Amino acid sequence: MDTGILHTHHLLGVLLLVLVGAPIVLPTWADRLKKVHMILDTLLLLTGIYLLWKAPLALSAPYILKYILVIGAIGLAVAGSRKRNKKLSMAAFLLLAYGYGLSLQRDFFLRSDAARVASLAREEVSLEAGAELYRTLCARCHGPEGRAGYRKSASLHPAQQTDTSYWAAVIRAGKGVMPAHGYLTEAQISSLILYLKGWQ
Ligand code: HEC
Repeated sequence: MDTGILHTHHLLGVLLLVLVGAPIVLPTWADRLKKVHMILDTLLLLTGIYLLWKAPLALSAPYILKYILVIGAIGLAVAGSRKRNKKLSMAAFLLLAYGYGLSLQRDFFLRSDAARVASLAREEVSLEAGAELYRTLCARCHGPEGRAGYRKSASLHPAQQTDTSYWAAVIRAGKGVMPAHGYLTEAQISSLILYLKGWQ
């Protein structure tokens, strides 16, 4: 279901891009599209809030930039269609296109994470390295001790979960709203798993 909402959120982003671009080519349509615009804005916002609640990446710099771009673009789009000002509509479209392009760049959002772990142990496998990586990258969603329920992240405690290759795959590729951590080295992933196993 979360993956569905994520895809819906992206689809709404594309539709909004078309809608914000429409008054540039069809100025007379601005009024007719007003209601559709409001509905799309609301849905985009609601799905965005839901995703944020599920995966609180919210306060990292790249996300804040994305929010500013999108909200700014919607403001400009509303002003542009109200004043029938093509330049404003064009600026709104470009801003939104830029924000949308950024949101498709997983690397962009992960770069701040990758930068934060660059200084942590990369080649040696140890419990301490795992603990530090966990605190830096994972605790904000899974909680300090990997308990279920924290913003609905999966519990990292199921007693029957002994398949560490599954864990390694999830860490590398992400799952649902959990981001991929493909920039981690093999040793860093082994350290993390060593640390997670210590809880069981
Ligand atoms: C943005 C929030 C977020 C971050 C950061 C995050 N996770 Fe997750 N993680 C989730 C969510 C949500 C799920 C459940 C995904 C699903 O099942 O759709 C999950 C699932 C998992 C699972 C699979 C659990 C299972 O039994 O299916 C593992 C293992 C895991 N995370 C480990 C980690 C580790 C290790 C890190 C740090 C490198 C990390 N996660 C960072 C949100 C996050």
